[in-house]
Amino acid sequence: MSSYKIALLDGDGIGPEIMAEAVKILNLLAERNKVSFELTHAPFGASAYFETGHPFPDSTKAICDEADAILKGPIGLSHQESQKIPVDMQPERGALLPLRRRYNTYANFRPVFLPKGLAHFSPLKPEIIGEGIDIMIIRELVGGLYFGEKETGINEDGRRYVKETLEYDEDQIKRIMKVAFQTAQKRKKVLHNIHKSNVLKSSVLWNEVCLEVGQDFPEVEVINILVDAAATYLCLNPGMFDVMVMENMFGDILSDQGGGILGSLGLMPSACIGPDKAYYEPSHGSAPDIAGQNVANPYSMIGSVAMMLEMSFNMDAEAKNLWQAMQSVFAKGYSTPDLSKPGGDVKLVSTSDFGDMVAAQLSSMPISS
Ligand code: IPM
Ligand code: MG
Repeated sequence: MSSYKIALLDGDGIGPEIMAEAVKILNLLAERNKVSFELTHAPFGASAYFETGHPFPDSTKAICDEADAILKGPIGLSHQESQKIPVDMQPERGALLPLRRRYNTYANFRPVFLPKGLAHFSPLKPEIIGEGIDIMIIRELVGGLYFGEKETGINEDGRRYVKETLEYDEDQIKRIMKVAFQTAQKRKKVLHNIHKSNVLKSSVLWNEVCLEVGQDFPEVEVINILVDAAATYLCLNPGMFDVMVMENMFGDILSDQGGGILGSLGLMPSACIGPDKAYYEPSHGSAPDIAGQNVANPYSMIGSVAMMLEMSFNMDAEAKNLWQAMQSVFAKGYSTPDLSKPGGDVKLVSTSDFGDMVAAQLSSMPISS
């Protein structure tokens, strides 16, 4: 029997509620399969700062170091609440980026997926969605503007100034390109390379390395597209994309747009993979406005569990079952409020109802190995 240690970082806002649903599913998976999960909660984010004085305490680091995989909820506070925390201790700068840096999780997979039958969730017209949306955004996660040198001060003219650096070396680009090409090779063999080489030198190098890595993947067709044009086409013709690769900041923005074309960021799970460790998280924020109300959509969190099964535990068949279980709850007309539209006829369910329904559905499915 395999046994895995999973660190659970509940995070802030809706984090604990949607984590509870993920835990429900993990317990069920352990019952159904020859696997055991040792689950350890650890404080992380703004809640950890208020509890311990640090958003990523040493005790949490130790639990994550020991874990086979990390499942992380969203972090962050409202803009106003954030002001109560010193800038460098705010959960994004003080916890999330250090987590990414610590485990060098450079490859961020963000699936943007909506089957045809759920096209009504999307703000796009059915004729634009066609056979459904199925895109894999691959975002470089530990380089670029997010991690470059930063400087603030007063310049010679007495004005406040700020300087942030967008830096990549060729090896950083090479390794994410390899991941992107390998992914494209397994899917439709088309890779959209997102860049801004008409302005940014960083994109010129990015594109050069893309071309070089591509020589090892002759079957994959590369289509270079400017980031602004890609944003437009995600709305006008999402079906033209399959795998997309991009640097960190572009990926942050386009992946939220991905959530937008699906109809909710609640439909955006993700995997963050490093050389030795991976962590899994919803792509969205902590939605403090709806925290504690049992209305948040746990799909992104449960989907992150499905990605963990695939990418860390080699449990592909169960991952498929889990995706299918979630889709079938939606297909029966149930959904959390984020996906309901005025005049729509979804049957509204709570966070915990949705988790229960997914668990019931999964229980009814045969275990295929
Ligand atoms: C994301 C988030 C983070 C990011 C924030 C919380 C720092 O928006 O994972 O997309 O910008 O990377
Ligand atoms: Mg983001």
